[in-house]
Amino acid sequence: MVNRLTSRPLLIAGLLVVFIALAPIVVLFAQPPTYLTPAQLLTDPFLQLPTDTSVRVVWFTEFAGTRHSVAYGKGLRRVAIANTTKLSRTREDQKSRVGEQTEDAQVYQKPTLRDIWRHEAEVTGLTPGKRAPYQVTSVRNDGQLVKSNPFTLAAAPPPHTPLKILLTSDHQLMPMTAANLQKVAETVGRVDAIFLAGDLVNIPDRASEWFDDNRGGAFFPALQGQANYQLEKNNITTRYTGGELIQHAPLFPATGNHEVMGRFSMDRGLNDQFNDPIPRQVAADIYQQKSAQSNSNNPLIWLKEHSFNTDTYNEIFTLPGNENYYAITFGDIRLISLYITNIWRTPSLKPNTKGRYREREADLNNPTAWGYGQHIFELIKSGSPQYNWLKAELNSPEFQQANYKIVMFHHPPHSLGDNIVPPYTDPVQIIERDRNGTITAVRYDYPPQADYIRRDVIPLLENAGVQLVLYGHSHLWNRFVNAQGIHFLESSNVGNTYGAYLGEKQRQVPEGKDYAATGDPNGLEPILPTIAPLIGEDNQPLPYISSNDITVFSILDTSTGIVSSYRFDTRKPDSDIIKFDEFQIAPVRSQGFSLTKSIIPSLSLKYP
Ligand SMILES: [Fe+2]
Repeated sequence: MVNRLTSRPLLIAGLLVVFIALAPIVVLFAQPPTYLTPAQLLTDPFLQLPTDTSVRVVWFTEFAGTRHSVAYGKGLRRVAIANTTKLSRTREDQKSRVGEQTEDAQVYQKPTLRDIWRHEAEVTGLTPGKRAPYQVTSVRNDGQLVKSNPFTLAAAPPPHTPLKILLTSDHQLMPMTAANLQKVAETVGRVDAIFLAGDLVNIPDRASEWFDDNRGGAFFPALQGQANYQLEKNNITTRYTGGELIQHAPLFPATGNHEVMGRFSMDRGLNDQFNDPIPRQVAADIYQQKSAQSNSNNPLIWLKEHSFNTDTYNEIFTLPGNENYYAITFGDIRLISLYITNIWRTPSLKPNTKGRYREREADLNNPTAWGYGQHIFELIKSGSPQYNWLKAELNSPEFQQANYKIVMFHHPPHSLGDNIVPPYTDPVQIIERDRNGTITAVRYDYPPQADYIRRDVIPLLENAGVQLVLYGHSHLWNRFVNAQGIHFLESSNVGNTYGAYLGEKQRQVPEGKDYAATGDPNGLEPILPTIAPLIGEDNQPLPYISSNDITVFSILDTSTGIVSSYRFDTRKPDSDIIKFDEFQIAPVRSQGFSLTKSIIPSLSLKYP
């Protein structure tokens, strides 16, 4: 009895000791799984919207956190507090390659919202022309601090600052994108800005394509030197990290077709949604036909969800103007970025094709399943709001007085590539019926005389003295010069080329239509690279690069006005970068600059 009485307090004391010892472990396992992973930001910070004395710093986390800030300036003594927003449409689905999911639907069987927070701080009071160090800090809900590495930022450069601008497009997690950007950093060092002519990722609402695709080549990691992409060529695998570029330099994108999501759903896969936009007017007609009860939503939101949207793109970037088209001054450059892009649809004419030229036979009596051809997302034709805005911008003193006048958009005005056909115009729908009125075919024509880029946009640019038009979409490098002296550059050759159509090689165009099967449909001859063109099978120099092995990038140097293009052969990972072309877009007007000797060899080249 005595023993039992004395052992009970001992037992209680023992249990207490065990409980105290185990308590931290119990608490640890009771936390959400993210707390077991090392504290990290989802991206490094990047720069947006520089003004004369300020710049925005933007980064992302997978936690809401309690405080997000940027320390900057000498000794990192100044602090800017960030505004935090949550991305509203970023999701993962069965086709995502993220986390443990390496094959379809291992983790995600349908679109699932992914919680991602965006932090943006305006860093003010900067001295023009002076770079400052900065570092971002996010405080998690449990109080833990997560810091980025230190980087540098600057306000918009003052006039006459020599700048190196990366001209690029169509990254889309392509196999050579990380290699391409790594070679940019190795060749040029830190660029001062990046002009990206659209198609940043493939499916804009798929979060991992921006942040952490598990194949290692997502958008932000590749532009921040944090990629981990294994590229295999000839049984040799090389790991590429991309380049540490946008932590130090602002990114100015254009809206490409891969920035646009189609009709919204939480059931259908994200690829299906991407491929399923319909024209806004068609959605408006459907809305009108619906009952008053189902029209209770905000009509603008309803229209967007039932046609197309660029919400994720708009939520990720901070751009001037209406964001999808805008103009900025950066040093001696005035850049205009336009929203010129349409949905891409297959050229196939087979009966089961919802394509650019026809509707699927099975859908003929079901207009809600129609694709409406390659319809245009934002009007640019004469008299449209974007056209009028462009006209006013071209007449503005900011544009007129700029030394470098550059216009960027996604769809090609001149190209040997595939995607310049058919003409860039509203599809003309032709519905064929039999005697009973039953629909037998729905086809689409694209009248060449109504090509809005050629008919409406280019004359405006010619009259305004534009020097360079930058674009992408067909995944090749080629360039042109028109009679008025405008240079046209398509520098989107980071991989996955769709071919160059010259000579014997023909685009897939329907018979009886006046769509160009070869060459530039808008009548210019491609310019042969001035320094080291590739040599074709016939031993003649090629006026383009269209390759899945050789990647290309272009740099504008404002101290000389020269655009230089470089190529890198990924089959030879140890080989040098080769500068293969250069051209000057404008005479150098600023004091203190003179033409470098590098332009001289190109002038002495003999052309075949
Ligand atoms: Fe594109």
